[in-house]
Amino acid sequence: MASSPTREPPVTSPAAVQKLIGLTSLLDPWAVRAAATFRLPDLVAEGADTIGELAIRSETHPDGLGRLMRHLTLLGLFRTTADGCFEVTEMGEALRDGHPIGIRSTLDQTNPFLSRLDQSAHGLLQAVRTGGPAWEHLHGLSFWDNMTAEPGFGEGYDAQMNQHSAMFGAAIARSYDWSSVRHVIDVGGGVGRTLAALLREHPHLRGSLVDLPGPATEAAALFAQADVADRCAIVQQSFLDALPTSGDAYLVANVVHNWDDEGAASLLRRCAEAAGPGGRVLLVERIASTATDEALQAVSHLDLFMLMTSGGRERSVDELRQLGKTAGLEHRKTHALVNCPWLSLLEYAVETV
Ligand SMILES: C[S@@+](CC[C@H](N)C(=O)[O-])C[C@H]1O[C@@H](n2cnc3c(N)ncnc32)[C@H](O)[C@@H]1O
Repeated sequence: MASSPTREPPVTSPAAVQKLIGLTSLLDPWAVRAAATFRLPDLVAEGADTIGELAIRSETHPDGLGRLMRHLTLLGLFRTTADGCFEVTEMGEALRDGHPIGIRSTLDQTNPFLSRLDQSAHGLLQAVRTGGPAWEHLHGLSFWDNMTAEPGFGEGYDAQMNQHSAMFGAAIARSYDWSSVRHVIDVGGGVGRTLAALLREHPHLRGSLVDLPGPATEAAALFAQADVADRCAIVQQSFLDALPTSGDAYLVANVVHNWDDEGAASLLRRCAEAAGPGGRVLLVERIASTATDEALQAVSHLDLFMLMTSGGRERSVDELRQLGKTAGLEHRKTHALVNCPWLSLLEYAVETV
């Protein structure tokens, strides 16, 4: 009987092994979250540069904190001086409050939404098995039902969206020719930061924000604060129901990616019906076919979160063009957002039949 050929053990470079081991660490991401939650880079930069002072200021245990700081130093967020004090590195600086990339607050585990989201990442296995969201399997209710069911979750989500839209509201206002629009309907407009930025930048514009009761209530305060309340209406309703017909442009920013194709098409159909023949629908989305590896990785990271949470997905321009078609929308143009390269604005016209 012929013996089966012996298989040579594969040769793997130490660099590849090291990279793989790095990717399997669960604790590195949590160490960085601990640094963000306890605001360690800010405290060190403010002068709490010994474990003793840092433990007092962060209300943590000196031994546990010392071990965490040693690891964070090895990860490159801090360095130690000759006399054993801590300094913040360039990478650590990016984890400070007020840094333009705004990453600290996205890792802060005192936000009930972010904390729940991060702790649900293991749902990815279930989502990959079924091809659908894992939220209900993990928590007994859908991601969107969780918004109102769990104390602090919806508010935490809105705060996160508010911070996110602070980064691109002005970009949307400046990257599109709004001169021919009179009334923009911001569909799923969240707490209103984007619409407020639009109305402030373009005094001729009027706006309506459509969202669920939680964010819609917060939007009222934000519009008053931004001094645009007199040009703004708030419509508390589901965007899966018939939308107000008063708009000549329907803006749908960072919403379509929350939905699977069926849900996204329903939402776009509501926009097309309300806008009427020749009306405009403007989508703002991350584009899944972005050029650089880093951008692609950021999009695919978000795509997995969408799969796992709400069953949504990140899409390419072609996929968004096709999605629009199923809702009676013709894709006209894709606009880059100034100073916001990770987002694009896709302009559609309602097809005339
Ligand atoms: C990812 S946020 C985007 C918010 C905002 N457009 C922005 O860019 O910051 C999605 C928004 O859709 C809203 N939303 C989800 N389901 C909805 C529904 N059925 N009807 C109306 N709004 C809904 C959420 O409340 C949330 O404000």
